[in-house]
Amino acid sequence: MKITVCIGSSCHVKGSREVVETFKRLIEEKALQDKIELGGTFCLGSCRDGVCLEMDGQIYSVTPATAEEFFISEVLKKI
Ligand code: FES
Repeated sequence: MKITVCIGSSCHVKGSREVVETFKRLIEEKALQDKIELGGTFCLGSCRDGVCLEMDGQIYSVTPATAEEFFISEVLKKI
């Protein structure tokens, strides 16, 4: 599975780096390196919605505060 986090300027300001760090930590903690490919992308066109990410062709929006919850409820469910 591929998760691509937007690192465009608007999402960067809203904390995309922290979101990426959180995902990296969780992937390591849960030893999912073989199952999840984490990448970055430029603007996904939904700047208003906070830190955007694409997973399985769908766009989601998270914040540094909700990234862990998103990972547990949405990402782990799909693995
Ligand atoms: S900068 Fe992230 S969606 Fe535009």
